[in-house]
Amino acid sequence: MNSARNLIAVAVMAGSLAATAAWAETAPDDVKFEDGAVAMSVSGNAGDAKAGAGVFKNKKLGNCLACHANSDMKNELFHGEVGPALDGVADRYSVDQLRAIVANSKEVFGDQTVMPGFYTLKVGKNPAKEFAGKTILSAQDVEDVVAYLATLKE
Ligand code: HEC
Repeated sequence: MNSARNLIAVAVMAGSLAATAAWAETAPDDVKFEDGAVAMSVSGNAGDAKAGAGVFKNKKLGNCLACHANSDMKNELFHGEVGPALDGVADRYSVDQLRAIVANSKEVFGDQTVMPGFYTLKVGKNPAKEFAGKTILSAQDVEDVVAYLATLKE
């Protein structure tokens, strides 16, 4: 057996696996918004509601509680009132609409909304260096938060 040839075969296989993974995730600029909805998972995977609850209350990630009250998290100390309370939000929006709101609220509510776009590179002019070229949430964080929001029914 020629071990160099085996090595090459392994490298080629690894390369095509990486390509598959990159294809499954949608890059922020490629997310398709149609009528206030995003029809496909941006990570290519299903969301996990439990992980999404963590993203929701994490001040370094979603920090959603800074602006939204949420009775499902009544043990958390601070609930902001800048945005509407999210109780029963899954009765008001479909999963695809919730995904659009979280990925880039400006596409749904317009540029004037104070809600950040969590999966977009359009973070305004002259972004601070640490934010340039990055999104606030990863594609999987978005799917996890959306899965969590989908549990908020009245
Ligand atoms: C800086 C404040 C702010 C933060 C942080 C924020 N939002 Fe919002 N959000 C708003 C505002 C304001 C609105 C109302 C839309 C508008 O601007 O008219 C809104 C609207 C929404 C709506 C639609 C609610 C409805 O009943 O119409 C959802 C869902 C939502 N936000 C989810 C989230 C999630 C999930 C997070 C965290 C990942 C988050 N928001 C973080 C301010 C915020």
